[in-house]
Amino acid sequence: MTFTNKTAFVTGAAGGMGLQIACDLMAAGANVAMVDVKPQPDCIPTGNGNFIYLKCDLSDDAAVKAAVTQTVEAFGGIDLLANVAGVLWFDRDASALTMDMDVWDTVLRINLKSMVHTSRHIAPHMKAAGGGAMVHFSTIQCLRGDDAPQDAYQASKAGVIALSKSLAIQLAGANIRSNAVLPGPVHSPMQTRWDDNAAALDSLSQAIPLGRVGKVADMANACLFLLSDKAGFITGTELIVDGGLLARP
Ligand SMILES: NC(=O)c1ccc[n+]([C@@H]2O[C@H](COP(=O)([O-])OP(=O)(O)OC[C@H]3O[C@@H](n4cnc5c(N)ncnc54)[C@H](O)[C@@H]3O)[C@@H](O)[C@H]2O)c1
Repeated sequence: MTFTNKTAFVTGAAGGMGLQIACDLMAAGANVAMVDVKPQPDCIPTGNGNFIYLKCDLSDDAAVKAAVTQTVEAFGGIDLLANVAGVLWFDRDASALTMDMDVWDTVLRINLKSMVHTSRHIAPHMKAAGGGAMVHFSTIQCLRGDDAPQDAYQASKAGVIALSKSLAIQLAGANIRSNAVLPGPVHSPMQTRWDDNAAALDSLSQAIPLGRVGKVADMANACLFLLSDKAGFITGTELIVDGGLLARP
């Protein structure tokens, strides 16, 4: 897969999957706008493409609009969008029946509305370029219930799938594809709870048919495929990347 002469806007680029996706895209020749609310990580390797790092709260529509403008000024356009940023607050996200509704609103704003902000500001630039591709990160958790519910997270991520499908239909005529990646459990900075709990990680790994939790590289591979021309006839669908977990009886 090559992304030479392409420009990508990657959110969550200081996190596990977003950083990997940004680095892989650069290695494959893309110029990348790396966007995150956190400061720039130290460990960004130089690839074949260039990057700019934009510190931005994606839940702020005006800030997203400004980040998109900065990207277009730096690289001349935007062809690819990887909507990766998200939050999972184990300490505050709980049952919809009892949880703090301010937390509910904030999670929905970060996980779902941010993806609306990026999509609506970037789609016109993709149209101007004659086409493009979007990948939005959801989760397998929105396809099932949970004994320990995180209902704001699950509902927001179900919304991501619906948004992705609707955008696919609305934008197909402009040669813009939109798909969702649904990761299973992935050992990333979002899952630091496993860092010092080998027993929990081991037991989860045994429940996954392929015998391990996901790596950020597994998710980056799926994302780059869907962004690439190799996926040129794929739009409006979901790619489950979970080692077979959902397929289990
Ligand atoms: N790790 C998992 O097990 C797992 C499983 C299923 C789905 N996912 C989803 O995959 C995506 C990537 O997850 P990850 O494991 O790399 O998480 P991560 O925590 O390592 O990275 C997420 C990044 O999003 C950024 N972010 C959060 N709020 C933001 C905001 N308002 N504005 C800008 N940036 C913001 C964070 O700063 C962080 O760098 C997320 O959408 C997550 O929900 C993760």
